[in-house]
Amino acid sequence: MTDFTVTILPAGITFSVSPTETVLSAALRHGIDMPYRCQQGVCSSCVCRRQSGTVQYQAPEPEHRNHQFTYCCLAFATSDLVLQHPFIRGDAAN
Ligand code: FES
Repeated sequence: MTDFTVTILPAGITFSVSPTETVLSAALRHGIDMPYRCQQGVCSSCVCRRQSGTVQYQAPEPEHRNHQFTYCCLAFATSDLVLQHPFIRGDAAN
């Protein structure tokens, strides 16, 4: 299976995600400081505004699912993604 590319704006971070892992899992595997707490689609910490791309959720989907937003802890990419999250930064040292 082909990996997809996730871009996080405005930081401009990019990383690859396999179709078999959630976007959050991929971000953490790449050392990206993506906020999360519940990992169950409840707390909204990991929610990003989706600028482009498509995702799918394993059932049950987040109750308050909105196509503008992506619950990264539950979402599996089905294409390249461009997501926006104001609190995800590049290198913390900068
Ligand atoms: S970590 Fe809570 S909604 Fe994703």
